[in-house]
Amino acid sequence: MNAGRVVVRVAPAKLNLTLAVVGRRPDGFHALHSVMVPLALGDRLAFTRAHGPADALHVTGPGGGAASALGPPEANLVLRGIAAARAALGARGVSPERLPALAVRLEKVIPVAAGLAGGSSDAAAAIDGAFDAWGFKLADEGLDAASVAVVGAAVGSDVPFFFAGGWALVEGRGERVTPLRAPIGEPLGVLLVTPALAVPTPDVFAAYAAGARPMTGAALATSGHLAGECARGLTAGRLLERAGLLAVANDLVPATAAVVPDLVAFRRAVSRLVGRSVGQSGSGPTLWVLYPSFDAAEEAAGRVRAAVHDGSLTAPGDGPPTICATTILTAPLSSPAQEPAE
Ligand code: C5P
Repeated sequence: MNAGRVVVRVAPAKLNLTLAVVGRRPDGFHALHSVMVPLALGDRLAFTRAHGPADALHVTGPGGGAASALGPPEANLVLRGIAAARAALGARGVSPERLPALAVRLEKVIPVAAGLAGGSSDAAAAIDGAFDAWGFKLADEGLDAASVAVVGAAVGSDVPFFFAGGWALVEGRGERVTPLRAPIGEPLGVLLVTPALAVPTPDVFAAYAAGARPMTGAALATSGHLAGECARGLTAGRLLERAGLLAVANDLVPATAAVVPDLVAFRRAVSRLVGRSVGQSGSGPTLWVLYPSFDAAEEAAGRVRAAVHDGSLTAPGDGPPTICATTILTAPLSSPAQEPAE
């Protein structure tokens, strides 16, 4: 890439509308059946050529306050994503001189270790952005979207989902991604409430493996039904009618509750306050509530913020929860491919 060029990518958060655990695989990972959707809430990554010989990462933004929760830079999924992209191109005979070190500015907006797959989305955006920065397209060098998703899967279970670019049924440990049609109609609003505590995904799966799991297979039934309905074409209104069923269709809830017992009472309190069903995204602790529009979600966010402020709602964690309104994306975010150097 020429020295002044800046490649930009937006890395959306994801929400699990359903999450069924269908078994344990020989590799120790759990096999899932999950309808996953991308959100307008996202991190922003800007790639330039690094001054030094090594890839470099600089984290900023409101979520950057939790930079310590991101771990050391060398363990960050952005740098691991770039390394995976370089290795994939290197394995196809591309010379290292064509893959120079990159400097990435990551503006962190998505809460960290919150069940929103911010790290995996950053990794997917890093792979895609690195390809672009080095002047490669996915179709080049025999790399189609599926094989790039395989590169991503090695970095994190949720990475392949982000290469699908929209609503998807996710199976296996996350590597089997079947695109689904997004509902027709106004994009649904979502209220997200994330307690100020990082919940490591391995801890939640370990609790699940140790027996903290639901008694019924209801989540799988709901998940299968929703995937079928999406494939056939669902309206946003119909989806909203399903919110109560979706909110209880997450098999990891008892495991997350084993890791963060106070989340159970908090979830009930949020539900009482907003008068709607409250779901949990992924391994938590982010709670979600669906609304017909962004404005309706924003109005509810205001009520939750006020209740936290006046002390009538207390969240587990080291401080006040992150409360935000966003929408479920119905079309892929178009990332500005290039912008002038700052
Ligand atoms: O792939 P990722 O880094 O997100 O996974 C973190 C950990 O969560 C894994 O090491 C594994 O313990 C657990 N996990 C699992 N089954 C999955 C995804 C994650 O057991 N499908």
